[in-house]
Amino acid sequence: MSTPVLVAVAWPYASGSRHLGHLAGAYLPADVFARHQRMVGNDVLMVSGSDVHGTPITVRADAEGVTAQDIVDRYHGEFVRQWDEIGLQWDLYTTTGTDHHARVTQEMFLKQLEQGFIDKRTSKQFFDPEADRFLPDRYIEGACPHCGYGEARGDQCDTCGRTLDATDLIDPRSKISGAAPELRPTEHFYFRYSDFTERVGEFLADKQGWRNHVLNFVKSWINEEGLLDRAITRDLDWGVELPVDDLGPGKRIYVWYDAVIGYLSASQEWAQRQGDDERWRHWWHNDDSRHVYFIGKDNIPFHCLFWPAQLMGYDPEIHLPDDVPANQYITFKGGKASASRGVGLTIQEGLDIFQADGLRYALAASFPEQADTDISIEEIARRINEELVATWGNLVNRVLSMVNKNFGEQPSVQGRTEADHAVLTTVDELLTTANSQLERVELKAALRTAMEAAQAVNAYLNATEPWKVAKEDPQRAGVLLGTALDAINGVRIGFAPFLPFSTEALSEILGPIEGWSRVPVPTGTPIAKPTPIFTKVDVEALLAED
Ligand code: MF3
Ligand code: ZN
Repeated sequence: MSTPVLVAVAWPYASGSRHLGHLAGAYLPADVFARHQRMVGNDVLMVSGSDVHGTPITVRADAEGVTAQDIVDRYHGEFVRQWDEIGLQWDLYTTTGTDHHARVTQEMFLKQLEQGFIDKRTSKQFFDPEADRFLPDRYIEGACPHCGYGEARGDQCDTCGRTLDATDLIDPRSKISGAAPELRPTEHFYFRYSDFTERVGEFLADKQGWRNHVLNFVKSWINEEGLLDRAITRDLDWGVELPVDDLGPGKRIYVWYDAVIGYLSASQEWAQRQGDDERWRHWWHNDDSRHVYFIGKDNIPFHCLFWPAQLMGYDPEIHLPDDVPANQYITFKGGKASASRGVGLTIQEGLDIFQADGLRYALAASFPEQADTDISIEEIARRINEELVATWGNLVNRVLSMVNKNFGEQPSVQGRTEADHAVLTTVDELLTTANSQLERVELKAALRTAMEAAQAVNAYLNATEPWKVAKEDPQRAGVLLGTALDAINGVRIGFAPFLPFSTEALSEILGPIEGWSRVPVPTGTPIAKPTPIFTKVDVEALLAED
């Protein structure tokens, strides 16, 4: 039976180039998981889009003296090109800038307002007297009251991951003028998250299978301070417009209220584009569906606490997140990769240096699933050369070349010995293991399992030496090489979610993969002279460049 699986992927801010840390933290794991889910026959809907609102966008636009829309168009375009180059298989990659998204956001707002989950309050917010404007979120910087990090922003501290109120910052300063801001009263809508502390606590109660660091973080949040009411509008002229005019001009919906709604609005947009407007309900109004959210750890509170509350306050029947396998950070030679601080390679820089599958392999081998993980250009190159090319690429090349040279087609495998059967059993067992690892979103482990399968086939060849046997006993050599090719035909399944481009190239030779289990290569299948599926990285030339 096929399960509807929503693969919900964090929406990148269209405020600057994203780096390899984002790719390894959210987009690539989502794609690997989604590809596996499709392979096992589930109904996958993988959606995301560019997050085009909020102060990340306007701060950048102000700094460059261009419009917010200019910034959004530039980076949304860049992302779309990159997703294609790196092989992300979206069902829909849209933006939060569509009219449809605005309508869905406004409708959710109105429904929650009617039910009393949203109310109006006046509070004091920072105001820049020189620039003559309020300073929401990232227009303010200062020291984090929790961990002391000096450059925390008004919305969140990147170092300890806490969400902040700008007014909590120590020594706050305006990002526009550098001035010390003053507090002035302003009126905003608040979402009464505190009404949901208990329900969100219950929602989290049966989530034992979640990654420990995620579960610990959100459980202690609920137990320590619970959910606090938060303003969901801002003094800004960029963002989804309010559906009521109580607050007067110059106010918009807060980016973190609207961006998460993108998962729902994008699912609906996808359905409309399919010409089946109600199809989104197959994922959202279905107890049997599975919703998995792929995000970096800085997004945990928004997805595990605030978004469920928002959904509960909107529609008691709607499907809540089932798993949020958030990743820790990628560090780049020690420093946290950060687009805004220019640390680490951008996705484009990565793609300029490495083949897409090579980059995908090296990043997947370093997915920061449990702990912050350091990467570097040298490490990526080493993994490509010494692991991907040396183990898997060479194996494929070696076997295809020998089969081609000696037989030109898949030889007969009549008369297999126990050792021949054993290598196939090993591959099959490892595929079963990889399957359950992928189900549990242990992607890094699944990649290691696929690699183990390749190593087992290498060991089989080294032990049986078909290149020697071919001289005296061509029939036996045929069984050995035919068995090796059958084994490879299984191993490629394990790599398929990770390496779409080389998988495609192999499909041209071996035919398409059907489902998550190995099938024998029919005797007589023509095997042409292969071209290597990966190229080695010239590390010396690479390092000489910088
Ligand atoms: N734009 C946010 C970030 O880059 C992520 C938003 S995820 C969403 O941190 F679901 F809220 F859109
Ligand atoms: Zn902090």
